[in-house]
Amino acid sequence: MRKSVWTWRHILVLCLHALPLTRALGAEDTIYQVAFEQLLQSGQLELNSDDAQVNQQHAHEPGESESDISGEGRSSPWLDGPICTTYIPRLQSELCVYTNTSFAGERGISLFTTPQIAKEFDSLHLRNNPAFRRDRDAETNVFSETWYTKDSPSKGVGMFARQDLNRSDPITSSTPVLLAYKEAVLPKPEREEFLRHAIGRLPPATGNAYRFLATMYHDPAFLMQDIASANSFEMDIAGTPHLAVMPAPSRINHDCAPNSIFVSNSTALTHTVRAARAIAKDEEITIAYTNPLEPFAQRQKYLHDSFGFECSCARCQRGETGDAVLDEMVTLQRSLSKWADPTSTSSTKQAERLIRIHQQEGLMGYVDPAYCLAALMYNSVGSERGAKKYVKLCIEGIELRLGKGAADLPQWRKMLDSPRGHWSWMRRKQG
Ligand SMILES: *[C@@H]1O[C@H](CO)[C@@H](O)[C@H](O)[C@H]1NC(C)=O
Ligand SMILES: *[C@@H]1O[C@H](CO)[C@@H](O)[C@H](O)[C@H]1NC(C)=O
Ligand SMILES: *[C@@H]1O[C@H](CO)[C@@H](O)[C@H](O)[C@H]1NC(C)=O
Repeated sequence: MRKSVWTWRHILVLCLHALPLTRALGAEDTIYQVAFEQLLQSGQLELNSDDAQVNQQHAHEPGESESDISGEGRSSPWLDGPICTTYIPRLQSELCVYTNTSFAGERGISLFTTPQIAKEFDSLHLRNNPAFRRDRDAETNVFSETWYTKDSPSKGVGMFARQDLNRSDPITSSTPVLLAYKEAVLPKPEREEFLRHAIGRLPPATGNAYRFLATMYHDPAFLMQDIASANSFEMDIAGTPHLAVMPAPSRINHDCAPNSIFVSNSTALTHTVRAARAIAKDEEITIAYTNPLEPFAQRQKYLHDSFGFECSCARCQRGETGDAVLDEMVTLQRSLSKWADPTSTSSTKQAERLIRIHQQEGLMGYVDPAYCLAALMYNSVGSERGAKKYVKLCIEGIELRLGKGAADLPQWRKMLDSPRGHWSWMRRKQG
């Protein structure tokens, strides 16, 4: 039974890595770990880049020497050719602004990136992306079917539910209007200049949607960077981190017990927000800007450093006393993951408790590992019904948090098809 042993190990590893409280993330943690690039608004744009290693000599007036990747014979998708910096030794490249105004139903998109990445982007996304055929989406409108924006007393503009929503219902789905090379390689004034071009070249409605987004530092000299900093999510383009600005989901405020959760898919170039639990009409829609499973002090520091605000959501108001329950979650997950240990006291009761904590803490966007562990636990004591119930929830939870193409969904679907054929079947009855 080599195969089942492998599967067993594999899933054990996944479950161990499911510990969402682990602080140091390794590359292998991507399956169940709350992946940072998905979870976080990045906010790490080097607004205070004075200590960043910048190369003053190598930026120059935009427009002086337009690079001509457009002059390669093939028709370029980019407006008027790109506007480029000079060669930046650290990047071994220049950075250029590329704009296409017809992307996503005439909403447009600007990239500030290297010619090489732009080229890959073009072949990967621009020509083939379904966003081209999509009608102008709700993005440029303030109102949509499912949400509207209005001032939220202490938090600036917020997004609110226009109707009752169920778990997994879509709220926004957007492509970026700006993708900007994330690493700090240019001095601030230069970077600002190029971002101005990037936004200025977009269709006016799109440019204005960008300019009206929230700022953190309120310095008009660096407005474009300020907005990018306060509103960006992160997307990997050609394997390189870029800041992605999407006006609609940028209106969603933070909560450490968010009623919604987002998934970024850098292949489809989409950012989708869905309800993590039922949301009532006129309730504010929230997402977590920081890992909600981290201890209070870490969440508070990240939000302060990256977004310039003190977290005052209900879980933050409990301060460090709220961390006790996170410790209990870790303990339960550890215990439930100890398949190989004959003295393990793990039980379906523990699995149910772990799920209940997620419900009580408002962490339903992050409950999938608990459902998956419950499915394994029920299966291991020979309850096919319990296993099926929870593996369904496990699949639905993974789809919600990681997307329908998440790597290990096929394994769970297999378990759903045949709980008795799964390695965990009756495992704890065999002693
Ligand atoms: C945008 O890209 C599409 C697809 O490559 C192209 O057909 C279109 O002409 C481009 N539009 C502009 C304004 O750059
Ligand atoms: C939510 O789910 C209930 C029951 O499944 C259904 O009746 C209702 O129409 C759904 N609401 C929305 C907004 O989809
Ligand atoms: C991302 O989008 C691509 C293209 O639509 C799709 O094939 C893939 O499954 C998606 N990834 C995830 C994790 O959902």
